[in-house]
Amino acid sequence: MLCLKAPTHPEWVHVAATHIADIMRDHAHCEKKAAFNALNLIMRYPDKHDLVREALVILEEETAHFKLILGELEQRGLSLGIDAGNPYAQQLSSIISKREPMRLLDSLLVDCLIEARSCERFTLLAGCESIPPDIRGIYHTLMASEEGHYTTFVAIAKRYFPANLVDQRLEEIASYEATIVQSLTNQPAMHG
Ligand SMILES: [Fe+2]
Ligand SMILES: [Fe+2]
Repeated sequence: MLCLKAPTHPEWVHVAATHIADIMRDHAHCEKKAAFNALNLIMRYPDKHDLVREALVILEEETAHFKLILGELEQRGLSLGIDAGNPYAQQLSSIISKREPMRLLDSLLVDCLIEARSCERFTLLAGCESIPPDIRGIYHTLMASEEGHYTTFVAIAKRYFPANLVDQRLEEIASYEATIVQSLTNQPAMHG
């Protein structure tokens, strides 16, 4: 889907379906971190007006997603629990340059890849018949929103960097992301 260069292993969907409470908890933490990430962009680049406006919209949407999933956990008597971390996102973020302006470009494109992968996995969960229909409905609702975030991060990047540079670096980071995904061991986590 979109810029992804390797599909999620089919076994992951089976693991996710049989550990759906773990997936919902981890998903809630992912939404929380996506909101924090958008706020972090605003704090790091307050002089970039278009970035601030776009990141603010994402911050509001990710906060709403976090609230939605937290409510779904509460309805099922589940607690959020501690954040087990996200080795996939940590490994992917290691490609981000330490120096500006490439740090900004890389940060936006890593965010873009995480959104695209999340969208792919929501699509898989929404189509998995062994997951209860009400939970599948949540993932179906979120698919379009996360795809919109993917598009927005690329658009922000092209606002501040030449389009050919953005496309070239997106190719590089997408290839790196594919190698990470192929090394995953199908754990009951959104990016496991
Ligand atoms: Fe989200
Ligand atoms: Fe998102």
